[in-house]
Amino acid sequence: MKNNKVLTVCLALSLGAGYAFARPSLQDDETTPLQESMQGLMSRRRAMRKLVRDPAAHRSELLEILEEFRGHALTAFSLPPTAPGSLERTDAALWRVGFQRQILTLIDTGLECELAVLKGDTELLGEAYKTLSSTMKAGHDRYKKSD
Ligand code: HEM
Repeated sequence: MKNNKVLTVCLALSLGAGYAFARPSLQDDETTPLQESMQGLMSRRRAMRKLVRDPAAHRSELLEILEEFRGHALTAFSLPPTAPGSLERTDAALWRVGFQRQILTLIDTGLECELAVLKGDTELLGEAYKTLSSTMKAGHDRYKKSD
């Protein structure tokens, strides 16, 4: 009886191990939650591109897009990527703080876009929209691993 139990456990373990090895590698093609947020930011930024030329004519559409943009940025804030393994504990924490502050800059710039839409200020909106791109570039230069 005891032997039967041992055999059952061994069988279950080996089947489990077999499943784990047979499973396709998750790392290769799985989209991480941070990547999903980033894709959301990208699609929202693209959706804004033409509309920013005339905020008065696209007010409600722009406000909706900006709300979604902010949602994605807030999610990204809570998903900092893992710091490079070479960093000591404090430096890794500093790296994470830097990432989150950069995301906060992005959120603030999104709010500036919203302000400009509410005021119907095309010039201010154009400037803030450009700042979204420079903030993205700065964030990617520092925190996104090159492929
Ligand atoms: C308008 C602003 C931004 C846009 C449109 C944007 C867009 C993107 C896109 C399309 C990706 C690739 C996602 C994928 O692999 O499927 C990405 C990745 C990434 N972005 Fe951004 N981004 C923005 C701002 C930022 C900022 C401000 C930071 C840093 C503070 C940042 C950090 C990263 C990181 C770390 C990755 C790599 C994620 C990973 O591979 O796990 N991004 N971003």
